[in-house]
Amino acid sequence: MSTRTYEPASARRVAFLGLGVMGHPMAGHLARAGHQVTVYNRTAAKARAWVDEYGGGFAATPAEAAQGAEFVFCCVGNDDDLRSVVLGDAGALAGMASGAVFVDHTTASAAVARELHAEAARRGVAFVDAPVSGGQAGAVNGALTVMCGGDAAAFEAMKPLAMCFAKAVTLLGGPGSGQLAKMVNQICIAGVVQGLAEAVRFGQNAGLDMVQVLDVIGKGAAQSWQMDNRGKTMVADQFDFGFAVDWMRKDLGLVLDEARRNGSRLPLTALVDQFYADVQALGGNRWDTSSLIKRL
Ligand SMILES: NC(=O)c1ccc[n+]([C@@H]2O[C@H](COP(=O)([O-])OP(=O)(O)OC[C@H]3O[C@@H](n4cnc5c(N)ncnc54)[C@H](OP(=O)(O)O)[C@@H]3O)[C@@H](O)[C@H]2O)c1
Repeated sequence: MSTRTYEPASARRVAFLGLGVMGHPMAGHLARAGHQVTVYNRTAAKARAWVDEYGGGFAATPAEAAQGAEFVFCCVGNDDDLRSVVLGDAGALAGMASGAVFVDHTTASAAVARELHAEAARRGVAFVDAPVSGGQAGAVNGALTVMCGGDAAAFEAMKPLAMCFAKAVTLLGGPGSGQLAKMVNQICIAGVVQGLAEAVRFGQNAGLDMVQVLDVIGKGAAQSWQMDNRGKTMVADQFDFGFAVDWMRKDLGLVLDEARRNGSRLPLTALVDQFYADVQALGGNRWDTSSLIKRL
């Protein structure tokens, strides 16, 4: 866990659903900031391990975790996973009181955000879609960027809590807007990583010392987060860390679906999505997204 400090705030009753790579440290920051956190994880052993580390409590179902919570945070895999922890008798909505706020940090579709916003509203519960950027390091260091969609009052209520694990939490519009902003983020990343992969391989084939070259050009107009954080690991052929190719394909699938709906042309993004399919065929499902260079 990082050495992050927290703004003083009154302790809130909070639930956190999904203690994966991202959820585990995010929930940890809420506990370290003094909030009363009850966790739920499908694989119960991970919930027990979290409680051993941070205190708080764990529940057997999302509904149980959500009972009495003012805020329910969630970070699971995809649309179906999200529906399975929100809806049904054991889902969080079944346990939430009117006036409570559900905050979803899963990267999911804008459509499921709108669907669950409407379902929550029928029960007097607010729903904020709030996907994150910043990766595992951002979650561990409490330095994520959170892109939100939903109602202004619910956003203002959840923002101080989300600031426990973020450096920026911003409302970008109504339900689904957070997910749409995250899609913009992933479109930007896809093109940049492919460009960086081609540049590194070209330099290696030309016989250049690519570590030295990246140090030089990283101080000029070619600089990017990907170059700073992934350039040298690409040169070193290291990919067993970071943001998994399988997750990126899920995200680009969401992007391309949305593009068909809103009439956007994304030729480069569609191509890079296919390049990631090649990486999966090489066995790189869990490799970091910088592994695009492996197919060159
Ligand atoms: N990792 C990153 O760098 C990163 C960065 C930005 C955004 N994201 C997004 O954040 C989300 C989570 O990513 P992650 O890396 O934390 O994933 P992860 O490590 O695979 O964790 C996924 C979590 O969701 C739970 N889950 C999955 N399906 C479920 C279901 N049907 N019912 C109940 N729980 C379920 C898992 O429970 P189990 O423990 O039982 O499997 C686990 O707690 C994804 O949408 C991802 O795209 C990830």
